[in-house]
Amino acid sequence: MAEMEMIDPLGRIVDYLRISVTDRCNERCLYCMPSDFHDWIPRDNVLTREEFRAIMKTGADLGVKRLRITGGEPTARRDIVEIVADAAATPGIQHVSMTTNGTRLSKLARPLFAAGLRSLNVSLDALEPARYQAITAGKLAPVLEGLAAAKEAGFEKIKLNTVLIRGRNEDQINALIDFAEENEMLIRFIELMPVSLTEMLSEENFLPAAEVQRKLGELIPIERSYGAGPAKYFRLAGRRAIVGFIGALTDLHFCERCNKMRVTCDGKLRPCLGNHLEADLIPALRPQIDERHLIRIFRQTLAVKPAEHIFRDNYQPSRVMTAIGG
Ligand code: 5AD
Ligand code: SF4
Repeated sequence: MAEMEMIDPLGRIVDYLRISVTDRCNERCLYCMPSDFHDWIPRDNVLTREEFRAIMKTGADLGVKRLRITGGEPTARRDIVEIVADAAATPGIQHVSMTTNGTRLSKLARPLFAAGLRSLNVSLDALEPARYQAITAGKLAPVLEGLAAAKEAGFEKIKLNTVLIRGRNEDQINALIDFAEENEMLIRFIELMPVSLTEMLSEENFLPAAEVQRKLGELIPIERSYGAGPAKYFRLAGRRAIVGFIGALTDLHFCERCNKMRVTCDGKLRPCLGNHLEADLIPALRPQIDERHLIRIFRQTLAVKPAEHIFRDNYQPSRVMTAIGG
C-alpha cells in the first residue's frame, strides 16, 4: 500500500496522535480538576485495550508516526503496559511516549521501557513538598523516586512539565531549572489553559511565559525543537540548562505547525484541544470494530481541523482535562 499522509485543510501534516486511556487519577491538580470532582466517566464508556489498538492501527494506516499515551493518569490503568506494548507494535508507529504524573514510575518505569515506551513527560509543578501538595494534592517523594527509576530503566528523553500558576509556583522556577540541569532533563513551563472545568482557571492565576522569561535573564533561542510539540526552547546564558515554554495563550503562532489530533478516553476524536469539535468513534467500535468506518471518521475529522484554538475567545471547556489528556 502506498504510504498515507493526513494533511489538513491548511496543509499541516497530522502525524501525531495523543490518546487518553483513562480519566482516573490519583492526584487532583488545581488546574485539572475541581476539588469536589466526582463526575467520572462510567467505566463501560471508557475504551478497552482492543478498541485503543484498533484506533492506533487506523491512525498509523493513515499516516500517524508518533503516539502519546495520556490520561487522566495513564498508569492508573491496570493494562497500561499492554496498551504501550500494543502502541509500540503498531506497524508504522516510530515513537511511543507518555505523559504521566510520575507517581507510579518507581514500579512501572522498567516494564514500560521493556514494552517499547521511549520518552516520558512528567508533571512537576514544584520541588518543595508542601508546594507540590498544594497544587496536586499528592506527595512529591514518589515522583522524585519515579524520575530516578525512569533514568535507571533507560529512558533517555525525560521532559518535565511545569504549569505556571501565579502565586503558587513562581518561586519554584529556579529550583526546577536546577533540578532539570542536574538530572539532564528538559523542562518546559506551560501557560495555564482553559481546558478544564475548574474554578481556578482565572485571569488572576495566569502567569504569562514572557514574564517568567524576563526574570530568567538572557535566553538564547534554540532552533531545533525537542519532540513533536509547539514548545519554544532556549538556553540560559552561562548555564547548560535548556528551558522550554509552551505559550498556549500568548504565542500567536502556537497553532501554525500543529501536527496532532486527540482521542478521548471515551472514544471521541478531537481535531483541536481548544475547540468543542469532536467526532464519536463509538459507532465504529461497538458492537464490533469496523476499520473502514474508523478511517471515514478520521478523514472527516481531519477535514474540519480548525486553523487555531479559541482559548482567547472566552472559551469555556465542556469537560474536564482528565478525559481529554494533557
Ligand atoms: N493548563 C495547562 N496545562 C495543563 N495540563 C493539564 N491541565 C492543564 C491546564 N489547565 C497539562 C500539564 C500536565 C499535563 C498532564 O497536562 O502539563 O502536566
Ligand atoms: Fe492527575 Fe494529570 Fe490531572 Fe494532575 S493534571 S490531576 S496528575 S490527570
